[in-house]
Amino acid sequence: MNAISKISGSDRYARCIQTSKRVRWDVDKDVIRGRRFDAAHKFLPDGLSLADAFTTLSADEKRFVSQIQGRTYANVFGLVERFINAKVLELSHDHWFGDQIALEALVRFSDEELKHQALFRRIDAMVGDVLPEGYRFDIDPNGVAHAVLGKSTWAVLALTLDIELFTQLHYRQSIDPDTELSELFKDVFLYHWREESQHAILDELEWVRHDAGLTAEERDRAVDEFIELVAAVDGILQVQARADAGYFAATCGRVVDEAEARAIEAAFLKAYRWQYIHSGAQHPHFGKVLSSLITENQGQRIQAALATLH
Ligand SMILES: [Fe+2]
Ligand SMILES: [Fe+2]
Repeated sequence: MNAISKISGSDRYARCIQTSKRVRWDVDKDVIRGRRFDAAHKFLPDGLSLADAFTTLSADEKRFVSQIQGRTYANVFGLVERFINAKVLELSHDHWFGDQIALEALVRFSDEELKHQALFRRIDAMVGDVLPEGYRFDIDPNGVAHAVLGKSTWAVLALTLDIELFTQLHYRQSIDPDTELSELFKDVFLYHWREESQHAILDELEWVRHDAGLTAEERDRAVDEFIELVAAVDGILQVQARADAGYFAATCGRVVDEAEARAIEAAFLKAYRWQYIHSGAQHPHFGKVLSSLITENQGQRIQAALATLH
């Protein structure tokens, strides 16, 4: 790394700190503001819940699906932020006796991710107050974090940048004028995105920094581990799509036959794959950073793996 890119790298950490201080928000004072959810409103916008994929459902039932998916959205973020935060704390070790600006930026990142997990736990409970009993999210964030952190740092940072970039797209979709969308859920997208924007910059800085120390063989193994992580995320999404489709069928107030139940489960899985895998994988900036680090052959391996998840 030459002197100029070192300076600009340090400057980017400093800018993240400045923005992080400027946009900092409080779960109660700024996001929730004493409000409750209302089951008359949609929680996820159609562009994320893929409402059109639920072809057998009425408009009211599609709204219920957006509420189930909204609760799962909170739980999936609570889940991934457990391992993201642990990895950020681990990476901060590289800066303990070095760049104190980079260290401060990562400490703030970690602090924000702890706050986000608290926000998402609140959202899960608040959605539970207005929806029928029986919703399940049985995936243990600590178990997932242990499995994820067993992979190389390169692979974990690739997945993390992917995740933290797609929150920007999710925010853009939620600000689309939609009179039925919950104002409270819109604010969850807005406030989360404000802090995630800095996280995505830091992920990239840390990923590129870490990548520079790898051999070609280590990077090649890490590409395979990234593919394994995406497959593991997909495994989680399959479990939750089944759980959420079962919950819908049990609580929607009418009989859902076998064939329709399968179609609903497939639509949930399609929506979750869009939200948590493809919306990030197709993000132009993710593609740009990833392709700057890997060979054409490695890129093809990743694309081939992603193509199986449809
Ligand atoms: Fe977050
Ligand atoms: Fe984040």
